[in-house]
Amino acid sequence: MSSSSICYLNGDYLPLEQAKVSVLDRGFIFGDGVYEVIPAYGGHLFRLQQHLQRLDNSLKAIKLTNPLSDIQWQDVLQILIRKNQDHANADQSVYLQITRGVAPRDHAFPEDTPATVFAMSHPLAAADIKKIQAGITAITLDDIRWRYCHIKTIALLPNILLKREAVEKHASEAILVREGQVTEGAVSNLFIVRDGVIKTPPKSEQLLPGITRDLVVELAQKNGLVCEETPISETELFSADEIWLSSSTKEILPVTCLNEKTIGEGTAGPLWHKIIKIYQAYKRALRAGAETGAA
Ligand code: PDD
Repeated sequence: MSSSSICYLNGDYLPLEQAKVSVLDRGFIFGDGVYEVIPAYGGHLFRLQQHLQRLDNSLKAIKLTNPLSDIQWQDVLQILIRKNQDHANADQSVYLQITRGVAPRDHAFPEDTPATVFAMSHPLAAADIKKIQAGITAITLDDIRWRYCHIKTIALLPNILLKREAVEKHASEAILVREGQVTEGAVSNLFIVRDGVIKTPPKSEQLLPGITRDLVVELAQKNGLVCEETPISETELFSADEIWLSSSTKEILPVTCLNEKTIGEGTAGPLWHKIIKIYQAYKRALRAGAETGAA
């Protein structure tokens, strides 16, 4: 993250290193806030409406009024991208966060306190498909999180501890299991392929409704691939031909080693090669400014 990048804070655009919030901000004190991570390819925000809808759902879930309208958000983020446009690398990853604002420390909601609204952006490295197809290593861990995982909260202590445990075990991601059922990754959604059928757990309060997840389901079905939103047991996970993890920043990663067990042939599988080609074509269209609202 280059400190010289420009961020947005409560209506102002300023250098990131000059942006300050009070220590009494409830985001700092309680983790009382929600966030979004939105890629921008060639200056075009990726699935912006879907991200703003999820942001609004998260805000409603924590009883916090959305401080901006969708049009205002679009303006703020477009200006932020323009101010950080580095022509060498036209892709950016935008992070936005809203907290319940600054107030004396009290668990009870403060009255009439303005929300703290922050957004920043940094360059997003282009996906190196050749490198990615070698796949990543993951481990399974018990899903220790709360019951409202559908809210994109900034209170991410469980997620970072799970990620840390994966890293300590030389893995890039933790695949989470709750009562024998796979939910998602610590920072991603999960797909498996079995006998040519793509599967992902159905949306519920047990997982984040990933924007990339939805796009993968849409693109697969639109391109004649069988894709089911169906529960996946831990047993079924280990008998999968392919395992993928999806997120806005990492796109679709093949898992080729799980708990030291090789998945498939130990490299990205045939369906992954199909879906990543379709996904990159979608991105190219977006970068070229094509309307890609719906897949
Ligand atoms: N995380 N599940 C969790 C717990 C996540 O944190 C994320 C993304 C996803 C994927 O959602 P999406 O496809 O909308 O990015 C699923 C972001 C990238 C982050 O926290 O940095």
